Amino acid sequence: MPHILLPPGWNGRERDVTDPGVYQHRRAFLRQLGLGTVGLLTAGSALGCAREVAPGASATPEGPLDTIPSNAPRDGYPAPRDARFTVERAATDRLSASSYNNFYEFIGDPSDIKKVWPYTGDYEPFPWTLRVGGLVEHPFEIGLEDLFREMGLEERIYRFRCVEAWSMVIPWTGFPLRKLIDRCRPLSTATHVRFISESRPRQMPGVRTQPWYDWPYYEGLRLDEATNELAFVATGMYGEPLTKQNGSPLRLALPWKYGYKGPKAIARIEFVNEQPATFWNDLQPSEYGFLSNVNPNIPHPRWSQASERFIASASNVNRVPTELFNGYGEWVADLYPDEPREPTRPIAR
Ligand code: MTE
Repeated sequence: MPHILLPPGWNGRERDVTDPGVYQHRRAFLRQLGLGTVGLLTAGSALGCAREVAPGASATPEGPLDTIPSNAPRDGYPAPRDARFTVERAATDRLSASSYNNFYEFIGDPSDIKKVWPYTGDYEPFPWTLRVGGLVEHPFEIGLEDLFREMGLEERIYRFRCVEAWSMVIPWTGFPLRKLIDRCRPLSTATHVRFISESRPRQMPGVRTQPWYDWPYYEGLRLDEATNELAFVATGMYGEPLTKQNGSPLRLALPWKYGYKGPKAIARIEFVNEQPATFWNDLQPSEYGFLSNVNPNIPHPRWSQASERFIASASNVNRVPTELFNGYGEWVADLYPDEPREPTRPIAR
């Protein structure tokens, strides 16, 4: 696929790329949610490409909670809660967490790119095989039902912070990434882990209509980050399997990093011996670094990260201060001696 560099959805002032009617309409929607005006529209939508795609009439889900695949494994749900991971704020209401999403593979309406769920009707994730390989002693391929049974499921309530300065609190179900890493036994030469998402043009409208992105979505972590206790493979949320728009059948939840570090619909995991390229960093390296730890001291080049809008529900959005490492310093601060602890100028790391 040709790799034409166009900026990510939050790049550029929105009014510079978009028909005024379109962005004013969305601003009204965002105001309803109490959200800011961080640019949210893909440059591609300014080209009008995605307008041809509408959800298949027969497959259109009835609502945002109607998108849990009917054949998703349900053994182990609801999972026991790990009491170490709770949050003082109440969890975001389920409808908001399932309605307001970032999942570029499913952008079906360029005027409202957060509305992902109506465009997931054709996506059939199960059965799913996860492939794990690269610099490991035991590469493997495994069906998710077997993987979930082997790993065991638990629930963790994590803060979730998007680089766009909104946040939620989500009860995830899943298992520590470290358990999966123990299964394949990385070689001593492995330093990093790559995650590659699924890309299905026939089932994912955004993949068809946004060919300028270098699908599939790809992300990466240092090995010491991936084996940190916090790094979690999420298979569900709110006590049930993941909805399609939230990343079915499995995704990463990395609560100390900005949300884009957590790939959805992971198909492959590879152990490598150098820092891997990542999707947004390749598109806009000055704005989206490899580390991307939540840090109020490092403003995004075009907006502050000192505070965030916490979405409790669509009608209850409060501005709260952002915490270094999203409040998870006790777990991860040692990994980052160079992370700025004082206000600094924008840097992408
Ligand atoms: N993974 C894939 N494959 N495609 C995406 O577009 N978006 C990322 C991340 N993972 C994305 C992805 C971004 S920018 C964020 S903020 C979170 O998913 C959003 O997760 P949510 O929709 O469950 O809130």
